[in-house]
Parts: sequence; structure tokens; C-alpha cells
Amino acid sequence: MEQKYDIAQVLAWYIDSGVDTTCGDVCCLKNQNTPTPKPEMPSIKNRPAVTNLSQTTNEACKNARDLCLKANSLSELRSMVENFEGCSLKLTAKSTVFGAGNEQADIMLIGEAPGADEDRLGSPFVGKSGHLLDKILNCISVKREDVYITNILPWRPPGNRTPTDAEIAVCLPFLRRQIELVKPKILLLLGASAANAVLDNNEPISRLRGRWLEYTTSSKETILTLATFHPAFLLRNSAQKAKTWADFLRVLKKLKEN
Ligand code: URA
Repeated sequence: MEQKYDIAQVLAWYIDSGVDTTCGDVCCLKNQNTPTPKPEMPSIKNRPAVTNLSQTTNEACKNARDLCLKANSLSELRSMVENFEGCSLKLTAKSTVFGAGNEQADIMLIGEAPGADEDRLGSPFVGKSGHLLDKILNCISVKREDVYITNILPWRPPGNRTPTDAEIAVCLPFLRRQIELVKPKILLLLGASAANAVLDNNEPISRLRGRWLEYTTSSKETILTLATFHPAFLLRNSAQKAKTWADFLRVLKKLKEN
């Protein structure tokens, strides 16, 4: 039997899913003046977290891991990411946003994913969040050129939606290899997505931030790691700026001790 959907409900579902662009000249949705009751559209917001990754995702992860083994420099890794076809986010993104900054930096900052400005310009943290990040770094007398900045995902999720577990899993080998190639003394994780992906846990950022933790590379080296709030969160919650400021001071103090 043909399913009948309400157009407003279908569009709301697309917007929830992060689809913010249309393509083609022909409208595929027919207004059907559906009588009640309407069929339930699954809301992406209520969807349970994906824990079992599909076969395709597992294959893409393995592919990414195998590629990374062959990357001996950041420039080799960058070309691999640019040529990688295993993540569908690349299809909707304008740019591949690889890490940027000092490739021998003591501090490596990791955010979530490029936003619209980063996607347009091809560099991480160049929009509003990036400007705030520059100011915070400036407060601890660190310049952007002194640090290395990257994201867990090199492609912008449509509509800046939260990345899925599958997208994170596929892109994680590239991030892990970037960490190994930069070899920073300290990893600073910006926000819950970066903290949960790198530390492989599900703890809320409010509980994770401000505590010294360790990240273990695939060659079993450990790197001091601190999580803090994401600058985009601070733009909406300025009351949390003081805690973030304290976290950046912790990083500075630790660097001086080591
Ligand atoms: N937010 C991020 O997490 N990364 C960016 O590069 C920009 C905004």
C-alpha cells in the first residue's frame, strides 16, 4: 500500500537530518492532503545512538586505517584524506578541511568538524568559533601559528548537524595518524564530540573537562590530554568562559612543567 506523508512533516524531518540544500528542478513531493492519522516519521533527534557499525562502515574504517599506515608525513596524509571516498560527507562538502598550523607544535587542538566558513575557506576554525579561539589563545600568550589545529572530521556535516558514530569511526584513523605525525606534548579537545571520539567514551563534557587524562597512540605512546568546552558553546554560554580560561591556563602551566 502506498505510504502517504504530510509535506510539512517530511520537510521538517529533512531539516532535522541536516539536509539544507535542494537540487534539481522537479519537485518529488506531492501534496496529498493526507487524512489523519498520519504515518509516524522517525525523528533523528530521538534515534538511538548507533553502536553496531554497518559492514560498509567497517570496510571504510579498515580502508582508512590501511591507508594511514602508508602516510609518513602530514602532506602525504593530507593527499590521502583528499582522495578518500569512504565518507559520504565529502559529497556535500565544498572542501576537505585538513589540520593547519605548526607541524611541530607542543599543543594540538581538536574540534568537531568544519562549519560553513571553514568549508568555504578550506581551513579549520576560521569562523566565529575560530575568532573566539584566537582570543582565548591570545590570553595565554599563545599564537595560532604556534599550535596545530584540526577536527575529528575533515568534511562539514550538512547543516552543521552532529556527526554520526559511523562518520566519526571512518575518519578517526586519519585523526589518530595526524596526532602521531605531529607528536604534540598536549592534546586539547574542544567539546564533547572531540573528547568522546578521541578518548573513546561517552562521558558528558561537563564531567570530562579540566581533568588531565591520557591518550594512547597506536605505538603505545601516551600524550597528556585535556578536554574543555567548545568555543561555539561558549558563544552561547558565556558564563562557562571562566572554566575554559582556567583549562587553557592548566595547559600553559603543564607545558612549563614539562
Ligand atoms: N567548529 C569546529 O569544531 N571546527 C571548526 O573548524 C570550526 C568550528
